[in-house]
Amino acid sequence: MTATRIVLLGPPGAGKGTQATNLISDLGIPHISTGDMLRAAVEAGTEVGLQAKAVMDSGELVSDEIVIGIAKERLSEDDAKKGFLLDGFPRTLAQASALEKTLGDLDAALDCCLALAVDNEAVVARLRKRSEIEGRVDDNEETIRERMRVYDSETAPLLEFYRSRRVLIEVSGMGTIEEVGKRVRDALD
Ligand code: AP5
Repeated sequence: MTATRIVLLGPPGAGKGTQATNLISDLGIPHISTGDMLRAAVEAGTEVGLQAKAVMDSGELVSDEIVIGIAKERLSEDDAKKGFLLDGFPRTLAQASALEKTLGDLDAALDCCLALAVDNEAVVARLRKRSEIEGRVDDNEETIRERMRVYDSETAPLLEFYRSRRVLIEVSGMGTIEEVGKRVRDALD
């Protein structure tokens, strides 16, 4: 595998976190999930967490200002110099532009945007199942549907953004975790 700066894109429940966790040990780069970072901030009761909680619980997007701030801070850490696997960031065109500028300032560029394509109803079933096991506040049916709506309006346009940058690779996220994992590895090789 040659790509070291990767963005994982896909709707809620597409398997971004699952595939990222399985990939990072092979790639030796950090897995940076803005969703995980925001949940940790909520848990810790930080200023960012206090501002983000209600927004996350309703399935809306946390402001670009907050998210770009935490992503830039994380990307400036030492371990991100060898690359990164970004999961859940960017999610808006403003975030994608901010990432492009941050990398440009470092004389670096994204190697690829790997987009997982999934069937909406299958994803709703996955997230309902997770809600029974983990009880994530935003995994109830109404909020799942809102997260999907937000993905379609705010995040799906990034497919065209990265296609125009010639770094987009689309992979089916349907099938077992292992089947998707194989497709992802084949795509990155
Ligand atoms: P975030 O945590 O990023 O949530 P999400 O994008 O909705 O992602 P999920 O974790 O639900 O899905 P995933 O694709 O990672 O799938 P996973 O592998 O977990 O963000 C949460 C919130 O934070 C946002 O709504 C927003 O408010 C805020 N936020 C975060 N980033 C932001 C940003 N950049 N800008 C603004 N706001 C931001 O899998 C899901 C389930 O399916 C798991 O149970 C898994 O075991 C299962 N599964 C995975 N793959 C398969 C498979 N192939 N077959 C069967 N089951 C599978």
